[in-house]
Amino acid sequence: MADARRRLESDTSAMVGAPRIHDSAARHVAGEAVYIDDIAAPEGLLHAYLGLSRIAHGRLVSLDLAPVLAAPGVVAVLTAADIPGVNDISSTHRHDEPVFATQTILHHGQPLFAVVAQTRQAAREAAALAQAVYVEAPPVLDVAAARAAGGTLVTDPLKLERGDVAAALAESPRRLKGSMTIGGQDHFYLESQIAIAIPGEEEDMQVFSSTQHPSEVQHMVAQVLGVASHAVTVEVRRMGGGFGGKETQSNLFACVAALAARKLKRPVKLRPNRDDDMIVTGKRHDFVVDYEIGFDDEGRIHAVDAVYAARCGWNADLSGPVTDRALFHMDNCYFYPAVRARSEPLLTHTVSNTAFRGFGGPQGMVGAERFIEEVAFATGLDPLEVRRRNLYGGRPGEGPGRDLTPYHQTVTDNIAGEVIERLERSCDYRARQAAIREANATSPIVKRGIALTPVKFGISFTATWYNQAGALVHVYTDGSVMLNHGGTEMGQGLYVKVAQVVAQAFGIGLDQVKITATTTGKVPNTSATAASSGSDLNGMAALDACETIKARLTEFAARHWQESPEAIVFRPGFVQVGAREIAFADLVKAAYMGRVQLSATGFYATPKIHWDRKAGRGQPFYYFAYGAAAAEVAVDTLTGEYKVERVDILHDCGASLNPAIDKGQIEGGFIQGMGWLTTEELVWDAKGVLKTHAPSTYKIPVASDRPRIFNVALLENAPNREATIHRSKAVGEPPLMLAISVLHALSDAVASVGGHKVCPRLDAPATPERVLAAVERVRAEAAS
Ligand code: MTE
Ligand code: MOS
Repeated sequence: MADARRRLESDTSAMVGAPRIHDSAARHVAGEAVYIDDIAAPEGLLHAYLGLSRIAHGRLVSLDLAPVLAAPGVVAVLTAADIPGVNDISSTHRHDEPVFATQTILHHGQPLFAVVAQTRQAAREAAALAQAVYVEAPPVLDVAAARAAGGTLVTDPLKLERGDVAAALAESPRRLKGSMTIGGQDHFYLESQIAIAIPGEEEDMQVFSSTQHPSEVQHMVAQVLGVASHAVTVEVRRMGGGFGGKETQSNLFACVAALAARKLKRPVKLRPNRDDDMIVTGKRHDFVVDYEIGFDDEGRIHAVDAVYAARCGWNADLSGPVTDRALFHMDNCYFYPAVRARSEPLLTHTVSNTAFRGFGGPQGMVGAERFIEEVAFATGLDPLEVRRRNLYGGRPGEGPGRDLTPYHQTVTDNIAGEVIERLERSCDYRARQAAIREANATSPIVKRGIALTPVKFGISFTATWYNQAGALVHVYTDGSVMLNHGGTEMGQGLYVKVAQVVAQAFGIGLDQVKITATTTGKVPNTSATAASSGSDLNGMAALDACETIKARLTEFAARHWQESPEAIVFRPGFVQVGAREIAFADLVKAAYMGRVQLSATGFYATPKIHWDRKAGRGQPFYYFAYGAAAAEVAVDTLTGEYKVERVDILHDCGASLNPAIDKGQIEGGFIQGMGWLTTEELVWDAKGVLKTHAPSTYKIPVASDRPRIFNVALLENAPNREATIHRSKAVGEPPLMLAISVLHALSDAVASVGGHKVCPRLDAPATPERVLAAVERVRAEAAS
């Protein structure tokens, strides 16, 4: 086994584009992959735990921590008064996110203090002993309540507008209004938030943080400690999942660990248990979408006017860019001749909602598919036909002009129609749809449903400056290579993809490339690994570093062996130097003796993009990733329970860097999206207490929930038209939105009880309860 694996990895021929296994796959399953809690405890390690607010809104009158300090094993308690720097970890410069609350309490579970003890158990037990006195105020908990209370916004709203919507609505042959609620989602990463801080000389602080954004953790720790960034080094080898939940939410844990380490001059670890992780940290934003659509009897949308209200929680965090991205995806694959979209990022006394795979895009797209469904039921047309009629580009012969997004970017790479058509054929959609309709007619209780929905997802950070990356590549004299870049590994396979790029560049085996932990000490000023851009950005930066080294080696080899530079070619397994074939390691050794620098940094900044938020115009996305999914479900109309019977996916990864990894991303993203839209439901009680803070009450999909038949294919022969890394496309987030097909398949099954005459208006998550309610509503409406 070990030998076979070694041979496989030493294969230098099939590199980029080959289905290489995840670099940590074997270690993941053997339990040998080191996560932060697995790091051998440093000498003198102490454990911190957070003390949390027990009210959602109000004022902290007094906080008696004497019982906490007196508890066995306790070494110290820390409050805002112990912060040498600034009590603020707001990532928006709005100064709305203190590490510890001082007076104002804005959500249940807000950190008030930390306790440090000899053991984690002691710290956790002691944290519960604090005596807090509050003056409670009524909490504002959701979109409706926030609006009723005057609608305080956490950040500036966005408006996108094209054409005269009022006129277009007035002139539309038909129009309708509706509203949809779309639920939130907990990240449920397997590894909870965690950090270890180890104090060094003077003000130095080494932090191991489970974070997607080491540079921001570095910045926040420096800010809280009141030291320069150069005193703080943040390292992360891997996360046990992030999904956006560790883009900003890891800052708190790292800062508290560092604060305690600084004060006590000892290493400190902070890891909340699952319940506290869920109670303290932000989640996917739930939305209410209010819409008015103008259309015609052909199912053509003429105008859309919609408001996207989001429960943002107690501070801005990433709610601005998240609600922006919802608007950027309120079109999905569809052209709206006239359109107006506004965001309403509402302040609520709940956890501060944050990034989550798709970053608002999924909520925008769920809205778009609801519009399609409304039009389909209003016109009596098949939903897939309505989808097709509204695609960007329009029908053949229709001429140009149907390619402008609501943000005035022209869609130049549209392949949605082609992807839909191919999938429709490969999964036998029409025949199955007919068979399902027929079977439903004779099946009084179990009703089947089927739906095919497309995805178009914009790739780039809409904060344009984030679209940059750095890398550091060392070549050692034995020909082995050390690779470092600013991207983080959260299970998505970024490390192996970038290693493939580097191995191919030098013509060496993957086992000659050492993938090293992301650290702010090697590559500075990095962006979060987010927006699916990890391989696009870091792959390019690493390639840039390789090219620099290769140029030096080429120059050296030409001189050393007296060949022209054109005669030096890096081939799989060797370097061609004129007629000679030289091993990479031999060339490197010779170059070292010739005093050639064998280390280089690399850099990349995404071209072409720009965005003027005030004007609502620009080209925020470098390109789009496409896909489509067809889902078939069976619903028990007596109980609302259902099963996903079959799912077929065709997804566009451009020229995939690694089809095995990409397929994993598609499967995982789809299942995570399915959980979001079906069983995962967050419930806060009237006092703002999260009731669903453990797997006993919060249901993520498990193996038995997977589609019984699950066919996943990558779109072939479809290289990215833009010059991305080896013409690949980003894959991290887009597949999540393929799961919208499941929501619509459920809707189709529900609609069957009303003879497909009544739009089920099934909101998300479509839990069995909600499906049952929809069945009863549709049945009643159809009968009346
Ligand atoms: N896949 C795994 N296994 N674990 C994760 O945490 N995060 C997703 C996606 N796929 C995630 C994942 C999210 S939210 C993003 S933005 C991308 O991976 C980030 O990585 P990439 O840019 O390298 O694709
Ligand atoms: Mo992903 S939500 O951009 O971390």
